[in-house]
Amino acid sequence: MLKKTFARAAAWIVVPLACLAPFALHSQTSGAVLTIRADKPASQVSPTLYGLMTEEINYSYDGGIYAEMVRNRTFGGDWSGIQHWFLVEKGTAEAALAPDKQTGPSEALKASLRIEVKQADAQNQAGVLNDGWWGMPLRPNTTYKGSLYAKTDSAELGSVTVSLVSDDSGKPLATASIAGIGTDWKQFQFTLKTDAIAPSVSNHLSLTVGHAGTLWLNLVSLFPPTYRDRVNGNRVDLMEKLAEMHPAFLRFPGGNYLEGDHINERYQWKKTIGSLVDRPTHPSPWHYHSSDGLGFLEFLEWCEDLKMQPVLAVYAGYSMAQEHVNPGPDLDPYVQDALDELEYVTGGTDTKWGAVRAQNGHPEPFKLHYVEIGNEDFFDKSGSYEGRYAQYYKAIKAKYPDLELIATMPLKNMKPDVVDDHYYLRATQFFKDTTHYDKTDRNGPKIFVGEWATREGSPTTNFGAALGDAAWMTGLERNSDIVVMAAYAPLLVNVNPGGMQWESDLIGYDTMHSYGSPSYWAQVMFSKYLGSETLESKLEGAGPKLFYSVTHDSAKKRIYLKLVNASSAPAPVTIEWAGAKLAEAGKLVTLSAHTTQATNTIQRPSEIVPTESVLHGVSEHLRHTVPGYAIQVIELEER
Ligand code: AHR
Repeated sequence: MLKKTFARAAAWIVVPLACLAPFALHSQTSGAVLTIRADKPASQVSPTLYGLMTEEINYSYDGGIYAEMVRNRTFGGDWSGIQHWFLVEKGTAEAALAPDKQTGPSEALKASLRIEVKQADAQNQAGVLNDGWWGMPLRPNTTYKGSLYAKTDSAELGSVTVSLVSDDSGKPLATASIAGIGTDWKQFQFTLKTDAIAPSVSNHLSLTVGHAGTLWLNLVSLFPPTYRDRVNGNRVDLMEKLAEMHPAFLRFPGGNYLEGDHINERYQWKKTIGSLVDRPTHPSPWHYHSSDGLGFLEFLEWCEDLKMQPVLAVYAGYSMAQEHVNPGPDLDPYVQDALDELEYVTGGTDTKWGAVRAQNGHPEPFKLHYVEIGNEDFFDKSGSYEGRYAQYYKAIKAKYPDLELIATMPLKNMKPDVVDDHYYLRATQFFKDTTHYDKTDRNGPKIFVGEWATREGSPTTNFGAALGDAAWMTGLERNSDIVVMAAYAPLLVNVNPGGMQWESDLIGYDTMHSYGSPSYWAQVMFSKYLGSETLESKLEGAGPKLFYSVTHDSAKKRIYLKLVNASSAPAPVTIEWAGAKLAEAGKLVTLSAHTTQATNTIQRPSEIVPTESVLHGVSEHLRHTVPGYAIQVIELEER
């Protein structure tokens, strides 16, 4: 919701007109003239320009990328403790269920679900069912791996039958049996395998017994196959969509999710590592409870899987209900917690927290370059951020001098390494602001546009938003010598009823399927076709809604020209090239729509997707028409 303007002195590289004059003489009657000096780099493009911003919002993790199929697996999160769990009484069976605060499998999970079975037999079973995250997605010939903690008051209770059951037919689609449940808490594993069923989400998980007695349950978990077969891993379709964005980094764990509404609801990384049974779970500021199954190490492994560098945000003593910790001794324990966190990420196994990471299953340290101190601390009315940042800066730099520390607002008394700017705007605002960083002081802090989006369209953005995004990204690329990173936010949204807390998101999904918004495809195009330097260039005679960016990859000998026509009318452009011999044929990638309101949805996921064609007749005077409402990339090869 914020647009911040920071005063920075002018320093943008001005293209000398003399260089361009010979190329700009062409008639403008046929539209705009874009002159490009392919032999004259203008500025460096940051290799980390495009990345991802993530937090637990819109059911991004639970009910989203984290592949767990059981909802409310630890019986918490609301006053009842039993949301999404229902009693099963088959035939003559009789039973009751209730949360039990007196017994649980661990210090972290002190409570459980108690099922008292008064009457049941093999044909008339009793127990509970879980309805999943808006259903349970089942596919044919697929193996689902499950586990649960259980105990009973008497071994006579016998075995627990675990089944995936079709909501429509009532038939079990896969079944397993758990034997050996005793009077002490113990974890059990099981496997459920479907056969040639039709894919469907109208299913539930049922856990029943055929004998009277009491059964306690906790941490009931079920996973489908995950991305790269990670245990406790991520949903394949969503990870594949993210991989296609070629992200250089992942900013985590938030956002508001880092801060929490209250200090005691902040993201506490130490409570999200190790065995799942040792994770207490926590309330999140986006009004639902977090399982912390996608915990701190899982964030790092997510980075590893997609070859992204972590951009780690550490809690910095401010939570959103205007609660803050005073700089000085009060803040020391929080600073120490951040130092422990950095050691967990980067330390060798001979360090205290590096050894814990190894115990958790990842002996190799992770590479870390950027650490963000807090999130949106300009909201802290106490004005304590300057002091808090300075305290973290001193302590972190003393131990990790090479880390670059990101401030969440400009500071008066010190120059942070990087400042995080956030923008949530309409398309027209982005059109007018594409030059935002042209005059930014190159001697000031570097810029991280840590959250930005054109907010048009719901739940995911429409084509008008994609045009705003693309126009804005041309400005980011041109200024990528100072804008070192940028990330769209929010990234993910569960489009099931009640799944969304924030409109205009990038990737939408339900229980089984997912799709990219037009903005997503614009991100894919901008990230995939990006050189290492910008080229001297100038656009003349264009209307106010034509934007471009041109970058060059000297290693690959490729030039990438991005053109954005946010007008409904086609835009003829003569592209005058100098300083390079270009192959006669190039690649043209186009994303376009007939209206700004056109979009993709979960029902119609592929209305607007990029198309590729061959661009023939590439010459020093290339005449090209950008269709109305279009985003294009022209990839040219140097000979
Ligand atoms: O992206 C949604 C929210 O917007 C983030 O949590 C917060 O940092 C910003 O205000």
